[in-house]
Amino acid sequence: MSDTIVVSNRGPLTFRTGPDGSLVPVPAGGGLASSLHRLLGSSGTMWASVTMGAADREAVARGLMTEDGLDLVPVVVDDDTYRQAYDVVANTTLWYCHHHLFDLPHRPRFDRHWRAAWEGYRAYNRAVADVVVGRAAAGATVLVQDYHFSLLGRMLAERRPDLRSVHFLHTPFAAPAMLGVLPDAVAAELLDGMAGYSACGFHCRKWEADFTACYAAAGREAPRTFVAPLGPDAGVLEEEAASPGCAAAAVSLRTELAGRRIIARADRMEPSKNIVRGMLAFEELLLTHPEWRGEVVHVAFAYPSRQGLAEYLAYGADVVHTAERINHMFGSGGADGWTPILLSVEDDRARSLAALTLSDVLLINPVRDGLNLVAKEGPLLNAADGVLVLSHEAGAWEELSLAGRGALGVNPFDVSGTAEALHEALAMEAPERARRAGALREAVRARTSVDWWADQLAAAAPQG
Ligand code: F6P
Repeated sequence: MSDTIVVSNRGPLTFRTGPDGSLVPVPAGGGLASSLHRLLGSSGTMWASVTMGAADREAVARGLMTEDGLDLVPVVVDDDTYRQAYDVVANTTLWYCHHHLFDLPHRPRFDRHWRAAWEGYRAYNRAVADVVVGRAAAGATVLVQDYHFSLLGRMLAERRPDLRSVHFLHTPFAAPAMLGVLPDAVAAELLDGMAGYSACGFHCRKWEADFTACYAAAGREAPRTFVAPLGPDAGVLEEEAASPGCAAAAVSLRTELAGRRIIARADRMEPSKNIVRGMLAFEELLLTHPEWRGEVVHVAFAYPSRQGLAEYLAYGADVVHTAERINHMFGSGGADGWTPILLSVEDDRARSLAALTLSDVLLINPVRDGLNLVAKEGPLLNAADGVLVLSHEAGAWEELSLAGRGALGVNPFDVSGTAEALHEALAMEAPERARRAGALREAVRARTSVDWWADQLAAAAPQG
């Protein structure tokens, strides 16, 4: 039994099957699981996460799903349930809904197949509820992370009203018109599920406002809400960036770029990140300000994500094709040849951190994004007084755009506007760059992941 239980879809450890059939442990991937892992350290906290396939289930059966200093509780679900809950509902429906990504003339289609998947999502939430109900001490605090668990709040409230459960959403929350795309009964079940939590937290006020607006539009009372942006762990990040691997990556990147200016980005390969429009803005910059041709390279690192989803594969293909087309159109051959876009689709953390450290401009232009931790990590690491060009639709915008804080804002849909912002950033005088970079560092250092976690615990405590 435990007084505090953390719940997330992805845990700190997963397994894959090696070529010889052995189970190979893979440490946490993605911003959330790795931030949580660092935060919880060896605190002994109980952490419930869901098995992601046969290798994980086999590891659980063999007693391998353990992590020093943590009390890992794997929630075992079968492949069909996991695919329906994670792929179809969480990542293809709720993710698209909360990020306003639906291509409405074609998607979504709520047919009998989708309804079967919704059943799977319910079963997945129930499987987690069973584990929490069985493991939570009387009056325990349950800290639930993300949109995979929209129904868990109500399930826990019904079965264990003594628990204090907090849901923290790492994505935006849909505006009422977009939530209205879901079938009425599904939207109602989702709002009811979330209303079962003692409190619901968000990275910024904008997503909190959309959440409460959805309740107002549905004519029901919203649960208690709070805003608690995540911050990077400056010490850990700086140590990582100073490692021999990152130093070597920086040397090799500098050599490859031969002294040219750098517009960098580092994201998951993800439709919400708006990588294609970022490249089109770079192309427009080269057309409208030809003085930058040969002088600047767009270094775009996009590491693979959610490869089981056709939409992600198609988006990745579009990114690759766009980079190739622009390179073909503008690139120059010869000994000092210039390749305008340096695209890497590998998961190479050292090279990504090196790019953040060296960049003159960091382009972060998501169409909608819960926070975007890279928008905070970049300014922290950057050693060139780099300018941050940041979408108004990233949750981090609220913190990094306040008076004097220094990010240049862009509308993520406005390719020409983004091209102009890139030009402004590249052409900015050194004192102004330094002032903005200093302001950004100060804003980022104002909050750490420890503050974020403390806010969740405070939200779980009985309110006076
Ligand atoms: O940003 C939302 C989020 O769920 C994060 O919490 C997570 O780090 C990231 O997306 C990756 O998600 P997944 O675990 O599906 O790869």
